[in-house]
Amino acid sequence: MRFDETEQAKTPLLTALLEHVQRGLLPFHMPAHKAGRGTAALLTQALGAGTLPLDLTEVPGLDDLHRPAGAIAQAQALAANAFGSEESFFLVNGSTGGLQAALLACLQPGDAVLLPRDAHRSVLGGLILAGARPVFMPPRYESFWGFPLGVTAAEVARGLAANPRLRAILLLSPNYHGVVPDIKEIVALAHQYGLPVIVDEAHGAHFPFHPELPMSAVAAGADVVVHGLHKVGGSLTQSALLHRQGQLVDPDRLKRTLTLLQSTSPSYLLMVSLDAARMFLATEGRARWGQAIHLAEGIRERLASLKGLSCLTPGEVRSQGPFQLDPTRLTITGRELGLTGLELADRLRRGFGIEVEMSDSYNLVALVTPGDDESTMGRLTGALEAIAGERRGMDLPQSGFSGEPPANFSETTFSLAELADPPVAMTPREAHFSPSRKVPLPEAPGRIAAGFIAPYPPGIPLIYPGEVFTQKLVDFLTAVRGQGLRYHGMYGEEEGQVEILGDR
Ligand SMILES: Cc1ncc(COP(=O)(O)O)c(C=O)c1O
Repeated sequence: MRFDETEQAKTPLLTALLEHVQRGLLPFHMPAHKAGRGTAALLTQALGAGTLPLDLTEVPGLDDLHRPAGAIAQAQALAANAFGSEESFFLVNGSTGGLQAALLACLQPGDAVLLPRDAHRSVLGGLILAGARPVFMPPRYESFWGFPLGVTAAEVARGLAANPRLRAILLLSPNYHGVVPDIKEIVALAHQYGLPVIVDEAHGAHFPFHPELPMSAVAAGADVVVHGLHKVGGSLTQSALLHRQGQLVDPDRLKRTLTLLQSTSPSYLLMVSLDAARMFLATEGRARWGQAIHLAEGIRERLASLKGLSCLTPGEVRSQGPFQLDPTRLTITGRELGLTGLELADRLRRGFGIEVEMSDSYNLVALVTPGDDESTMGRLTGALEAIAGERRGMDLPQSGFSGEPPANFSETTFSLAELADPPVAMTPREAHFSPSRKVPLPEAPGRIAAGFIAPYPPGIPLIYPGEVFTQKLVDFLTAVRGQGLRYHGMYGEEEGQVEILGDR
């Protein structure tokens, strides 16, 4: 279907909701706060008097997410038109819900699915629900910047040849640093085998709306694409989209699955935010993302001439192989100033009141979006210049940051260098349903993990349930204890415990 500019300016669900509220019906239905009158005044004040009246769920005239025939159906159809898919679905449990639904709709118990080792932890729920066997591909690793770039078509071809029980492929694009693999080539390859490709494009919902951004996975022919619209598309946190196209994924099974996994009381605040954000992207996306690209290029150029700090460039990414970079993602290292990414982020927070998206031992990642302008970028640039100036005046200890990974190697380095091929004892589902207990870290080597362990962000599991703890992993987890990094899947005082299989 062609992009319909007049229709894209409409917001059928938001309009229906506003009209409903204007009718002023006296509510004897849920939610119990009744437009904010029946809850803490503090909440009404914090959200603004206009917000809680919009917090409704299915009432006559507002359609039903599980059987859309009115305003939700129209809003979803406009999303499909804007993103170029055959069908699009509103998600009220983030990209997580969409990825789980996609896996559950494509796989049977016992099927194998090919996916990169640096996939986000949200796919694990889908693997457990489906009873699928993950076959991990090692992503190509960038040693200077210290993070995984992604998988190549050659790696996918190897996986396809070695695993006859594969029934689907899941790809991550872009990763947290904005790097995009060659989705088009991988999709073409997978389709030769008749396999559907699911793309976790949680961080790439803006791609269809500006020609200087990487090609979107829908345009590249992927069968199911999940967009965390809240991450980069302007909708409210937790709202997301799932797109489907082609013949390889059964549309009815996918819809049935979404209905199984999603709440029967979907938040209209979340859903109207999807409707409005789609309209914004379709009507203003090109101009506003064009501005964001321009602002990001400006800071990249500035950092290129500033001694001590560097920002990853699209050219560097392209030189590493078949990869592209979302130019609005800024990956910045201060290693020449003797600063880890964590330290640089901390200096920005404490010294300049700036919070970035993520930091690790190597870099920090900052997002430039339509929410930025010359003044926000000026503050970030000024702060980085001040930190660089300050550090250059100091007699810096040689921290071994010029090319070699730092001594306190990063969590992403570890996951890839050491864990690309861990011993596997059983599927994630088998491990999930087995008896488990918590043990101190020193007791873990040789034991089977009951859950996943992942630094957050970026949420890339170092171990999946059903895999065996190695001494190296335990040494690493012991070393990072108390360093202030957040780990999902570790417990106890100073996070000194992990969950293993076995009776209590
Ligand atoms: C690559 C990737 N996929 C999926 C998700 C899950 O998204 P959500 O938080 O919207 O459920 C995240 C979250 O950070 C992510 O980074």
